[in-house]
Amino acid sequence: MVIIAKKKIDGLWKELMSERPGFLVVLEGIDGSGKSTQARLLARKLRKMGLPVTVLREPTRGKWGRIIRARALQETALNPQEELELFLRDRQDNVRRHLVPALNQGKIVILDRYYFSTMAYQGARGIDPEYIRRQNEAFAPRPDAVFILHLSPAEGLARIHQRKKKDILFEQEKYLKKVEQIFRKIRGRRIYHLEASQSRERINELILRRLIFLLKKKNFLQLDSSRI
Ligand code: ADP
Ligand code: TYD
Repeated sequence: MVIIAKKKIDGLWKELMSERPGFLVVLEGIDGSGKSTQARLLARKLRKMGLPVTVLREPTRGKWGRIIRARALQETALNPQEELELFLRDRQDNVRRHLVPALNQGKIVILDRYYFSTMAYQGARGIDPEYIRRQNEAFAPRPDAVFILHLSPAEGLARIHQRKKKDILFEQEKYLKKVEQIFRKIRGRRIYHLEASQSRERINELILRRLIFLLKKKNFLQLDSSRI
């Protein structure tokens, strides 16, 4: 009896979750893995299909995002817990002001970094990634799809820095190796791992193919859509 009731509640919950308006797509990966490039390409293609798209990013351009960037330039490093708190504040603000309103308006939100970055980056500084995940999932809407782009830190850094000091890059590479290791271990419903060393066009095609399947499932697109 209890089992049947629980199954019913679970089913109802799943239904309610899938009824949430909007569609949240998250792009994740280390610096230089191609997230912003893919966000741009995706937004362009989805808009061409006549779909309503909003592109957001974290850290944001808002108050907390500005504080995060200013702190990153200072000599004295924040401790991991302080860092975690700043990213959480920035995210709480973004969720409340931008993400939830856009989803409620039925938008497809493309989000360049979300709490998987916190799991990987602050996780690499010693905080338990699962603890970080729980803290975030207490307030942050669950994504409908997460694409994690994988690239070796050396390649990622080579893409973004042409002439940075070798020793800074060495330290950064060591840290990013840990970050990348955590990214590779993140598993879950609708989390997809992609190799980012492929061409931009190929990665975009892989993401788009999966998204179209998921958008149809959520009735964002007609099954026989000819706009694709
Ligand atoms: P991220 O947002 O993950 O830091 P970007 O999208 O800004 O990464 O890409 C970093 C750099 O790498 C940019 O100069 C971009 O043009 C280039 N880039 C992006 N995707 C690819 C790819 N698949 N192959 C080669 N270079 C790429
Ligand atoms: P990035 O996406 O590179 O933003 P921008 O290009 O505007 O500086 O993010 C800045 C850094 O913040 C990047 O190295 C990853 C890091 N980060 C975290 O450490 N934790 C987080 O939760 C997020 C969202 C980002």
